[in-house]
Amino acid sequence: MGDLHESFTEGVVFLPVIDLSHGRDEVSRAILDAGKNIGFFQVINHGVTEQAMRDMEAACREFFALPADDKAAFYSEDNGKTNRYFSGSTYQTGGNKYWIDCLRLGCSIPAGDSKNNWPDKPQNLREVVEKFTVLTRDMGMELLRLLCQGMGLRTDYFDGDLGGADVIVTLNHYPACPDPSTMIGLPPHCDRNLLSILLPSAVPGLQYSHNGEWIDVEPLPNAFIVNLGLPLEVVTNGMLKSIEHRVVTNTTMARTSVGTFITPTKDCLITPAEDFLGEENPPRYHAVTYADFNLIHGTVKHGLCGVKTTNLKIKETMSTKI
Ligand code: OGA
Ligand code: NI
Repeated sequence: MGDLHESFTEGVVFLPVIDLSHGRDEVSRAILDAGKNIGFFQVINHGVTEQAMRDMEAACREFFALPADDKAAFYSEDNGKTNRYFSGSTYQTGGNKYWIDCLRLGCSIPAGDSKNNWPDKPQNLREVVEKFTVLTRDMGMELLRLLCQGMGLRTDYFDGDLGGADVIVTLNHYPACPDPSTMIGLPPHCDRNLLSILLPSAVPGLQYSHNGEWIDVEPLPNAFIVNLGLPLEVVTNGMLKSIEHRVVTNTTMARTSVGTFITPTKDCLITPAEDFLGEENPPRYHAVTYADFNLIHGTVKHGLCGVKTTNLKIKETMSTKI
């Protein structure tokens, strides 16, 4: 599990599979390994119930199948709005269009009043999203603690502001596309939140970059795909990798995925942790607030930044400008 030697066979790259029911030490080592080398992994026995996963998938299907008028009520092109429904085919990002419809929701933990800002159709959407998000966020926070343990960082390092903003949940729908060669679902990007937890679809489409190639993510049944966001790369002074990924389209099958994004608060400082700095390890990034960090790394929603940001030099140059 999570063992890189097992992950490369005859030129095929498999995402490390991390079984969260195994012992803490083993799991924390596996997460760290994956974080350093691939930046992506899948988790099984993760504590999110199958019921919560199936309910979420059903709520997604039902939401996207609603009559256009119902969805239009929630539609907005105002990127500053947390809760909104929008479409990558009408939403302009520097002239680019993407083959995706997305419902984006902000969820406080517990969800409390934030639920009132979500669509009230389908009828059980609010309840299902809340249940799902509490479970996926718990899992994400646990992964962060395990990661800290592996790195020798205090295990509650991300429990405060770094992981403390409302969780962002995106319901993504990529319809079948007449021309996948020219139309992509999401452009190559690194996630700007701290940690991303994806309920993938059985329909392929997600690819991550590895040694200059795009590798298809082929999830195990009931697995979540986890990837590290740019702030984690900064906090660890570049030890952990936030890896570029994209979503490609196909001509026959619609694909639906759900992202849970653990996110820093706006005023929180994104900066390398003291623990990773020393004479031999000067900071490779300037400290910036998360609000500025977001501006630097693209102004559009998670996953639609359209800016290639994996090049550390670019990141350093950009950060230096602040
Ligand atoms: C994202 C993302 C992948 C997917 O929303 O940032 O990378 O499979 N989504 O939908
Ligand atoms: Ni992403």
